[in-house]
Amino acid sequence: MKQTERLQPTRTGIRRAAALLRDGALVAFPTETVYGLGADATDDTAVAKVFEAKGRPSFNPLIVHVPTLADAEAIGEIPEAAWAFLEDGWPEGLTLVAPLRADSKLSLLVTAGQRTVALRVPASPVAQDLLTAFDGPVAAPSANPSGRISPTCADHVLSGLDGRIAAVLDGGETPGGLESAILAFDEAGPIVLREGVFQVSEDLRRKTALDDGPGALPAPGMLKSHYAPQGTLRMNVTTPDPGEWFIGFGPHRNADANLSASGDLREAAANLFALLHQADKKDRIAVAPVPNTGLGRAINDRLSRAAAPRGADF
Ligand code: TXA
Ligand code: MG
Repeated sequence: MKQTERLQPTRTGIRRAAALLRDGALVAFPTETVYGLGADATDDTAVAKVFEAKGRPSFNPLIVHVPTLADAEAIGEIPEAAWAFLEDGWPEGLTLVAPLRADSKLSLLVTAGQRTVALRVPASPVAQDLLTAFDGPVAAPSANPSGRISPTCADHVLSGLDGRIAAVLDGGETPGGLESAILAFDEAGPIVLREGVFQVSEDLRRKTALDDGPGALPAPGMLKSHYAPQGTLRMNVTTPDPGEWFIGFGPHRNADANLSASGDLREAAANLFALLHQADKKDRIAVAPVPNTGLGRAINDRLSRAAAPRGADF
């Protein structure tokens, strides 16, 4: 890829960043927590590029960033108990997990096939300007290569991702410096899934998932049997058994569907969740080998969760 553009948060820079997002390119941008690596959340290929650029080993779901509470409500059903946190507007550094609306138009890769979505309205003016100019939901993990420290300035972003993303919008240092707090809700109130910039007051705290240790964190990407289709699924199949619904990768004459006929991993990643949804109605599913390199690792990770025996969680 070409050199990453460093854009200033002027009108011209914001317009350029929004145009790149519209073209399906990746743009890093500051929020009040850390820099996010943004992609059009409705574009499968753009979202697949996020996992590829980060070298993310699994399709962990991504936080969706929108400019207003009304935009958030159009994507997820804000849980009743969450409204107490939103009385004075969306607090800084808060991400809410909400049931996903059926008509959300989000790429299935964003939610990793979950029925919930993590939503965030960033307070940072540069993030607000970008989201308003783009006029759509932006999926963004922290803008660092997988396993590295989250970036709090444009130089951090470039040191990890230069040449792998189209642009970084340079808004100086992010005030938060660490990620948002992620809250889910049940009938009894908030559950802290990840501690972060937003602090839940002591009186609202009860036993959280974190209290059970890291193994108990209900981060969806950590479940062994996660994206389980209703039927069985076999991986690394070169010759399907009679009656199996066969998902190919690369040229296959007898495939019922194909992740990517040309053997392109990015295309395969973009197609994966849609194909698994399609396969959900079949009794027996077989999937051709996918090379375990680059995005292929994430694809195989997801497939192995789909293939895992049910009840194998944790
Ligand atoms: O401050 C932040 O939150 C930054 C900025 C850019 O917004 N983003 C960030 O994203 O830290 P990331 O991808 O590094 O971490 C997001 C976390 C992951 O652990 C993921 O599993 C969790 O959010 N997550 C996303 N969607 C979820 C969902 N529907 N339910 C539960 N957890 C979810
Ligand atoms: Mg991160």
